[in-house]
Amino acid sequence: MHITKLSGSLGAVITSIDLNALSDDGFISLRDALFAHGVVVIPNQSLTPEAHIELAKRFGTIDINRFFTPVASHPNIAEVRTSPDMTRVIGGTWHTDHSYDPAPAMCSILAARTLPPFGGDTLFASMAAAYEGLSDGLKATLRDLSAVHSDGSFADSKVGIDADTSAFRAATKHPVVIAHPDTGAPCLYVNGDFTVQFEGWSIEESAPLLAMLYAHATRPEYTCRIVWKEGSVAIWDNRLVQHFACADYAGHARLMHRITVEGTPLLRYRSAS
Ligand code: SIN
Repeated sequence: MHITKLSGSLGAVITSIDLNALSDDGFISLRDALFAHGVVVIPNQSLTPEAHIELAKRFGTIDINRFFTPVASHPNIAEVRTSPDMTRVIGGTWHTDHSYDPAPAMCSILAARTLPPFGGDTLFASMAAAYEGLSDGLKATLRDLSAVHSDGSFADSKVGIDADTSAFRAATKHPVVIAHPDTGAPCLYVNGDFTVQFEGWSIEESAPLLAMLYAHATRPEYTCRIVWKEGSVAIWDNRLVQHFACADYAGHARLMHRITVEGTPLLRYRSAS
């Protein structure tokens, strides 16, 4: 396995690996790379749907998204589909998968199936780098806060899906600064699609600070960009990164297959100092 960093804050390209025939040691190295880099892209794969499902199961239990259309032949896999006549894409705003769940998704595994002739990249931002980039004063304030997250933004089609509103669940809350469940690293955990307000604050009171955090967290120096190629597979850690699907290929089709893996409830980061 050969690992090359994609940017200063996050992301890596992994080569010399076959996801259809991954040894146990190979899987552990892949998982370690995911936790170290936040998002990994593995080019030149011929990932079968069965191998996609098996890979996801090695990370944990598959978390079937209640809002996405499943792949007809493999209901464990979700379609992320853009038709040529669509005017919006799924995930075309900065977000964290499933942050509206009490135990949000651990990772997502996206396989390119049909790509547009140009564009359709996915951007990622490191929430560990974003936290580190804040002042000590704001870090201390945020470490004591929790935020409410909700799937309600599916109702206004902001996230690119006409969701079945009967699938909506009660809002949940998470610490604003989480300890990454596997590495313990502090990560900012708020996102523009699903975070509603700080616990104990009104929506109006929360909005300015949340807007500042969203703008800060997606500064170019905290991001990397995946330019998809036929055969590319990307895996990202939803506790460590946000992502954004770029809607710049109007008139062209794009189809990706996504599996999301269940995570655990998120714990507050406690500073040693
Ligand atoms: C998503 O999971 O938000 C979609 C990402 C993409 O299609 O690039």
